[in-house]
Amino acid sequence: MPSSVMPTPRLGDGPQSSAAVSAVGLRKSYGDKTVLDGIDLRIPAGSVFALLGPNGAGKTTAVRILSTLIDADGGQAQVAGHDIATSPDGVRAAIGVTGQFSAVDGLITGEENMLLMADLHHLSRREGRRTAAELLQRFDLVDAAKKPASTYSGGMKRRLDIAMTLVGNPRIIFLDEPTTGLDPRSRHTMWQIIRELVADGVTVFLTTQYLEEADRLADRIAVLNDGRIAAEGTAEELKRLVPGGHIRLRFSDPSAYRSAALALHEVTLPHSALRRGGTPIDEALSLQIPSDGTQRELRSILDWLDAAGIEADELTVHTTDLDDVFFALTGGTDKPKEAVR
Ligand SMILES: Nc1ncnc2c1ncn2[C@@H]1O[C@H](COP(=O)(O)OP(=O)(O)OP(=O)(O)O)[C@@H](O)[C@H]1O
Ligand SMILES: [Mg+2]
Repeated sequence: MPSSVMPTPRLGDGPQSSAAVSAVGLRKSYGDKTVLDGIDLRIPAGSVFALLGPNGAGKTTAVRILSTLIDADGGQAQVAGHDIATSPDGVRAAIGVTGQFSAVDGLITGEENMLLMADLHHLSRREGRRTAAELLQRFDLVDAAKKPASTYSGGMKRRLDIAMTLVGNPRIIFLDEPTTGLDPRSRHTMWQIIRELVADGVTVFLTTQYLEEADRLADRIAVLNDGRIAAEGTAEELKRLVPGGHIRLRFSDPSAYRSAALALHEVTLPHSALRRGGTPIDEALSLQIPSDGTQRELRSILDWLDAAGIEADELTVHTTDLDDVFFALTGGTDKPKEAVR
């Protein structure tokens, strides 16, 4: 579905909670390339907000503007109640930023990196040592604390990065792709860290390439495409925007597959899903039948398959996931590999 025909839904926006971040009409261009073409955001305090978008969509640019690292060309934004243009120091005092690329200095130890941050935040020597020790403990870096950070694994560096961000006890943190390149265990550790931050009342603004991450962590998700927010809402709300549910039949016998594909193509039953047509995907000997995933529709599809003598080796029910949303909203019409829907 082309994004141009999608409305820009702002679903279930509750005015009741105060906004940690709000933006109206944010714009940014580099030369004649428009990166952000009027972005509106409202992130309630104490929530997790995920900004999704393909490479180059402008996620980092948005983070850099909101964290006052660069200026917007137009629009307005308040972060922690401070205007980014007129009160950047107020913004900086309230936020922490973990950039897409690590701010860790590899030449010094993890502990020294922490103490450097404590200095930057003007903590006393004693307070700095206490904060560093506490955070190194919390992020499971005590054993590595005296080793040069260049010897840390990617996951350890990322944990140190976030620990450094927390030195100033920020109420709002920006995490630009916090789990890119991490293995599944490290990713889960990072999710746990983020959940604990939120439980402490911190607002988290994260960008991610991992839709599952947004799905699991974020209270609200915005999809950035072509410089605009293509859609915004909870994961469930976004999934409802895009039809993607289907039943998938997989065959091991090519001739069984072919006759099933033929039967599906010829079907003229008054059943809505079957009328919409099954789709063969040759290389995997699979067929897809659009389905809303309800028990009723599943039963009638099964009845029809029985009546038509189609017996698949495997039947799986797929509900819409954020991948479907992402591909629908960011220009691609389909998921790669699952070519046709
Ligand atoms: N300093 C700069 N000068 C010129 N162009 C820039 C600059 N910074 C970013 N851009 C361009 O702006 C666009 C958005 O970049 P940005 O880094 O915000 O994307 P992103 O969504 O974070 O991508 P990724 O997922 O790859 O991190 C890109 O086309 C990028 O080349
Ligand atoms: Mg980026």
